[in-house]
Amino acid sequence: MFEPEIGRIVLREANAADSRRLWKWRNEESAREASFNNRVIPYEEHERWFQSRLGDGRTRILIAMDAHGWEVGYIRFDLSNESAEISICVDVNHRSRGYGTVIIRNGSEWILSARLARRILARVKVLNRASLAAFERAGYSRIRRTFVGDAETWELQYPTMGAAGATNGRRCSKTAQVSRVRNDMRD
Ligand SMILES: CC(C)(COP(=O)(O)OP(=O)(O)OC[C@H]1O[C@@H](n2cnc3c(N)ncnc32)[C@H](O)[C@@H]1OP(=O)(O)O)[C@@H](O)C(=O)NCCC(=O)NCCS
Repeated sequence: MFEPEIGRIVLREANAADSRRLWKWRNEESAREASFNNRVIPYEEHERWFQSRLGDGRTRILIAMDAHGWEVGYIRFDLSNESAEISICVDVNHRSRGYGTVIIRNGSEWILSARLARRILARVKVLNRASLAAFERAGYSRIRRTFVGDAETWELQYPTMGAAGATNGRRCSKTAQVSRVRNDMRD
């Protein structure tokens, strides 16, 4: 199992027991607002989708845990043709502590270093300022403004794999990630 220590955040791959937790995060009001499909997903529908994705390799879902072992959010990568599209949700009770930034940066580094994709894209609604801030702090850059359905959206891209196999994202110091999270810990 993939379990790197990320400052005070650990990412682990999701398993079948995470289904209900993911469903609750997905249906939380601000997470639905951020999504391009903002309807409430019934549990049975979510469960069918989640179980089918767990085994098929097209989707990788990582659960983020804090220093106390509490699950604080998830990150998902949908893989296709050497590209990954990223989406994230941090539990509403754990936001604005720097977790989103750390989870995005380290999940993205993992996808690239595991050679699961060569390119990572995010699509963020232009009004979702917290998400834009977290992606940009994590090293993503805006590449174009477009529409997804009716939603005006920024496409952002993570620095791509260089010839030597290192990504620009690693320029971000791990110490900074750790201290940012530690400073924001409430407990
Ligand atoms: C987007 C999200 C993952 C950010 O997680 P987080 O742990 O709160 O992120 P961070 O604490 O690392 O950073 C959030 C940044 O947004 C800023 N922010 C927080 N709330 C904000 C708001 N309402 N308006 C503007 N900026 C806001 C924070 O100040 C911080 O920026 P800073 O580091 O420059 O100060 C979280 O808000 C979330 O899960 N939202 C719902 C789902 C979602 O929007 N997913 C993204 C879809 S693409």
